[in-house]
Amino acid sequence: DCIKIFSPATVANVSCGFDVLGFCLDHIGDEMIIKKTKERDIKITKIKGANLPFEVEKNVAGAAALAIYQDAKPDYGFEIEIYKKIKPGSGIGSSSASASGVVFAINQLLGKPYNATQLTQFAMKGEAVASGCEHADNIAPALFGGFTLVKSTQPLEVLSLPTPADLYATIIHPQIEVKTAEARAILPKKVDLQHAIQQWANVGSFVHALHTNDYDLLSESLKDKIVEPYRSKLIPYFDDVKNAAINAGGLGTGISGSGPSIFTLSKDEKTAKNVEKAIQNVYSKTDIKFNTYVCKIN
Ligand code: HSE
Repeated sequence: DCIKIFSPATVANVSCGFDVLGFCLDHIGDEMIIKKTKERDIKITKIKGANLPFEVEKNVAGAAALAIYQDAKPDYGFEIEIYKKIKPGSGIGSSSASASGVVFAINQLLGKPYNATQLTQFAMKGEAVASGCEHADNIAPALFGGFTLVKSTQPLEVLSLPTPADLYATIIHPQIEVKTAEARAILPKKVDLQHAIQQWANVGSFVHALHTNDYDLLSESLKDKIVEPYRSKLIPYFDDVKNAAINAGGLGTGISGSGPSIFTLSKDEKTAKNVEKAIQNVYSKTDIKFNTYVCKIN
């Protein structure tokens, strides 16, 4: 009647796939404990590691829990304990870890009546509390694992994509604030046709590369002509990080979600660690505090 879960961090967009592509990191994430209770309601009883609201409707995990609870209508309730390890506002899916973790755990305690797509739908209600819009590109990889592509949000359709065996991600989180709402507001409402052509060629190539384990093609398609030119201005030393990562052998570098974290994909763990050293060097020379992580993608 009680479950403890790990809820993973995720990287949305993956350069060419704004609002559709995402992948899951294997050991960075939050922990949550969910307990069945006799009272028929949802309560948040503990939050450690971040200053977040206890009011259920205003809390990302609370809102997601309510969405699944109101659909399932069990004759008992749930208490939620949240142990945040992912910093809110870091760009590696902090809110979606809370939202997807809680719905995954409640589904287990209910006896698993819902599939991953339905859980994604519930978790999106929580994500909406954080960002004002229901996007699924962090939630889907957290719930499905590996790489995902959100084919459509209404109705919700998620494609689970294969992950090449030796793919690693290096993440650097410079501790500056980039608000998702602002990072969305600065984007142009219309895109140039030539850029759109390059972008859909890259998304298609990227998906093909995942299916065929083609690391060279994957590297060539990790480009973003549409969003990155605007958002990279919000992240100091972005170009330096990108150059350092590529020189260290990385396959490609981009903004993680709406930033400020920056991700680099690499073909093996050794390269991913070399990339980590190279990008640490870039930020070590500045006043900006940062964290780095190396993760396998699965
Ligand atoms: N796809 C979203 C964006 C993710 O880039 O705005 C935000 O976490």
